[in-house]
Amino acid sequence: MSTKSHSQYQVLIDLIRNKKWYYLGSVISVGIASYFMFLVPTIGKEAIDRVLTEPRVEKEDLVQRMIDWAGGAEMLANQLWLAGGAIVLVTIVSGLFMYLKDYLAASACESTVQRLRDHLYHHLHHLSEKYIGSAESGDILQRCTSDIDTLREFLTMQVMNIGRTLVLMAIVIPLMFMQHAGMTLLSLILVPIVLYYARKFFFQVRDLFQQVDEAEGALTTIVQENLTGIRVVRAFARQDYECEKFEEKNSTYSDLNYRLICMFANFWAFSDLLCLLQSGLVLFGGGWLASQGVITVGTYFAFIGYTSMLIWPIRQLGKELSEAGKATVAITRIQEILDAPEETSSAKAMHLPERFKGTIEFDQVSFGYEPDRQVLNDVSFSIRAGETVAIVGPTGAGKSTLIQLLMRLYDYGKGSIKIDGMELKHIGRKHIRGQIGTLLQEPFLFSRSLRENIKFSHLKASDEAMVLAAKSAAVHHTIESFQKGYETVIGERGVSLSGGQKQRVTLSRTLLKEPPILVLDDTLSAVDAATEQQIIQALHSKKGEQTLLIITHRISVCQKADRVFVMQNGRLVEQGSHRNLLTKHGFYRELWEIQSGQKERFEQDVSSAKQQGDIELGVT
Ligand SMILES: Nc1ncnc2c1ncn2[C@@H]1O[C@H](COP(=O)(O)OP(=O)(O)O)[C@@H](O)[C@H]1O
Ligand SMILES: [Mg+2]
Repeated sequence: MSTKSHSQYQVLIDLIRNKKWYYLGSVISVGIASYFMFLVPTIGKEAIDRVLTEPRVEKEDLVQRMIDWAGGAEMLANQLWLAGGAIVLVTIVSGLFMYLKDYLAASACESTVQRLRDHLYHHLHHLSEKYIGSAESGDILQRCTSDIDTLREFLTMQVMNIGRTLVLMAIVIPLMFMQHAGMTLLSLILVPIVLYYARKFFFQVRDLFQQVDEAEGALTTIVQENLTGIRVVRAFARQDYECEKFEEKNSTYSDLNYRLICMFANFWAFSDLLCLLQSGLVLFGGGWLASQGVITVGTYFAFIGYTSMLIWPIRQLGKELSEAGKATVAITRIQEILDAPEETSSAKAMHLPERFKGTIEFDQVSFGYEPDRQVLNDVSFSIRAGETVAIVGPTGAGKSTLIQLLMRLYDYGKGSIKIDGMELKHIGRKHIRGQIGTLLQEPFLFSRSLRENIKFSHLKASDEAMVLAAKSAAVHHTIESFQKGYETVIGERGVSLSGGQKQRVTLSRTLLKEPPILVLDDTLSAVDAATEQQIIQALHSKKGEQTLLIITHRISVCQKADRVFVMQNGRLVEQGSHRNLLTKHGFYRELWEIQSGQKERFEQDVSSAKQQGDIELGVT
């Protein structure tokens, strides 16, 4: 438990430590301001006791010397404005120090939160693939925005107010004791109850806040998911279903919020009552003591001032503490992300070539995402630099996993993977990924200009190289036809591209990088025939210059490859050239028969349809 709470606030402690002088400065300022605040009722008290009322209280102390220095009590009684002036002056000084405290605290808090945001964003980019794959992006988004805001509010408002109240109490209460111990006790008698009640409330509300936060996260996730998947929802006409799900979550969220508001209403009402009771005790008790001559009228007057100065901030402490409850939840949620493991870097300090040649060796590699379920079993192969290898196999066979291991998105357990004879584990992840270009099945482009999108893979590339890459990917003319050419912004408020166009742009992005190893993971099954031809042509024009791995379902692609690998159930079951594999009566032969059979059947269908006049010539 103690270690947990230790790590829970560690992030905050580290960040605050960085600005400790600012925070210390604001504590000192608030201390000085509190002292001057204390002086306001005190001046009133001295004015009443030593100047206004007869017989005057006479003591040989600093105050008396100041009165004598100012001209004596007689003179001051006729110049009452001097006491008023002193009160104004003291209030101004107190206000100035409060301002200084706010200034220091605000700049420290803002910079603390800004650094936390930067830190979090940086961390997000380095999280392991495993975490990214399993986390909900809506939830992460909420942690990075609304939880950070909660924390910000906590630092700028709650911590400041709690600190202010504590410092105020620490300075004013001892001074009050010096004035009159009995009256001090009377002024503070209900404070423990106020604090106890606030503390109890704080714990109650913390649980509820967590539930509210989670409900809000669930709501955000639904909205975010539905925005991304809106086409799927429409295609299946599931709007009502999704709306119902939203309404359900929304109503949970509202109910929880309502309960929270009710709890707060109770808290306010009861704590108001306690505070008024405390003021009433001082008014009545103090009044009675003054009338009995136990305390002076000035003391009575001063303690009314001290009590109202203290009790309301103390009651506010309850509110601040309960909001701090919300912040501890937010901090825990942020800390959870920060605790998620980053990709480890076990790179050895060895000299790595700027550009690899591109030989790949797998030796008895076994791997599973979960320890009890193997996805790859004893996979061994070697690929020469510049070779083109097609990988086929049923879905779930482990083809993509092979690539993920090659890119060090996951670390392999048993066996060895080498690029250019170097063990993959000893090469930095960044370096490996710099050598491998991938074209993913789902083309993703940023909502930025086409230029930025294409140059994303090679930030320093020249415009000529960019145009060349776009030409190879057969998208240059399309881009030129846009009014703003390469400056065209894609997405939300810009031009939207068709699936094939997007894929061509991503191809230019990958080609511009000119990586020694290029991987296409099922890319071609998602594009139209024309785009497929363009991509294959662009790649074949570079044949031999780079190692090419193509995961595919199409025999037509396999035919052009140097070798074909067949994966089944996590094992490499066949490998060889297209012709070679056809002679074996395995999976590949079957795939070929299905695809060529389909082709024949399709041709037969078309010719018989033509004979029956169903299809007009040229429309096929
Ligand atoms: N991130 C993951 N976490 C857990 N299991 C996974 C993950 N990705 C893939 N798998 C599992 O690993 C197996 C192989 O997947 P994959 O390599 O994607 O197959 P393929 O690309 O051949 O279709 C599948 O059974 C799949 O369920
Ligand atoms: Mg796959």
